[in-house]
Amino acid sequence: MSDYIKAATEKFEALLREQLARVERMNEQKDFVDYAKLPKIKIGICGGDGIGPVITKEGERMLKYLIGDSGRVEFVEIDGLTIENRVKANKAIPDDVLAELKKCDVILKGPTTTPRKGDPWPNIESANVAMRKELDLFANVRPVKVPDQGIDWTFFRENTEGSYAVGSKGVTVNDDLAVDFVVTTTEGCDRIARLAYDYAKKNGKDHVSIVTKANVVKTTDGKFLDLCQKVAKEYPEIRTDDWYIDIMTAKLVDEKRRTDFQVLILPNLYGDILTDEAAEFQGGVGTAGSANIGKRYAMFEAIHGSAPRMVAEGRDKYADPCSVLRACVLLLSHIGFQAEADKLERALDICMFEEKKLTITGRDTGATCEEFGNYVMETIEKL
Ligand code: IPM
Ligand code: MG
Repeated sequence: MSDYIKAATEKFEALLREQLARVERMNEQKDFVDYAKLPKIKIGICGGDGIGPVITKEGERMLKYLIGDSGRVEFVEIDGLTIENRVKANKAIPDDVLAELKKCDVILKGPTTTPRKGDPWPNIESANVAMRKELDLFANVRPVKVPDQGIDWTFFRENTEGSYAVGSKGVTVNDDLAVDFVVTTTEGCDRIARLAYDYAKKNGKDHVSIVTKANVVKTTDGKFLDLCQKVAKEYPEIRTDDWYIDIMTAKLVDEKRRTDFQVLILPNLYGDILTDEAAEFQGGVGTAGSANIGKRYAMFEAIHGSAPRMVAEGRDKYADPCSVLRACVLLLSHIGFQAEADKLERALDICMFEEKKLTITGRDTGATCEEFGNYVMETIEKL
């Protein structure tokens, strides 16, 4: 066997061992944390890069305003998840930061810069992706709502597998050949499907759509589809259909069909792409929040990047806090403060879509991030 085939085979073997060990860890996991049983819920606030610290500060201010005096929560600020520190440590998440994160129950995280080819940074793994893996945050829940167009979707994006599982560990076999891997596991499919169907049931939704490309990516997407359909059988009151990602991407712009979708389950990469498209109908990725849920930990974030250009141009104080405030709605609801979550959601709908007394333009022609935060708080006061 040529040396390069041998080297590539060894790398593949190491990946298989790593993934099988992960399967074992998944199988050993117990139930979800019961926040009501914790003496205090520790909320980590992690600003990140670029506009991250500015918008995350608004999120922290909002959480403290809503539940700071409840006696049930404790806030911890976690610095150090910046691109400079990550480069210095040559790690997606420096060890000391990871240790701090693991002391929390839930985390509100600002966007973090993901190095890409051509950047001045070494090509380290995305901090988002690493955190999802390290804390086993397997469900990326992304709601998108445009009430006057009848759009009310909740995406359940599988968050630890698919093309992302070993996304930074593909194999360059030789000058002519490079191979990446897509990973799908039984437990990985089962747990995302169950969470999506449970959510549908609890929230009065009667339609779940499974989205794959199982006609072409037959093994991994085929497994994902089969296992989601198996879970679907336990929910006969819910209508289940399955779609291929290409036609689903088209149907989301079909005004007649799209209002029929409610809950969507997707493998990681399709979920990544489709949720950006979906957020665009709501006003762009700056308006969308997302929950990364695991059994032990959960992390809440904006779905957009760190916008370094805004910082370079001195415009970070004009960044839109709505994405992170939407993430706070999800966080509050997740840890059992449903009334506060509803209030914040209602106030955001008023400020963003109805009254619109202030607008955010990303520059000095609009409100600052802090002014908008104050506007949302004043709106809550009036509810
Ligand atoms: C997201 C982002 C991340 C992803 C990037 C920043 C790695 O696009 O949260 O959707 O691809 O998951
Ligand atoms: Mg994305």
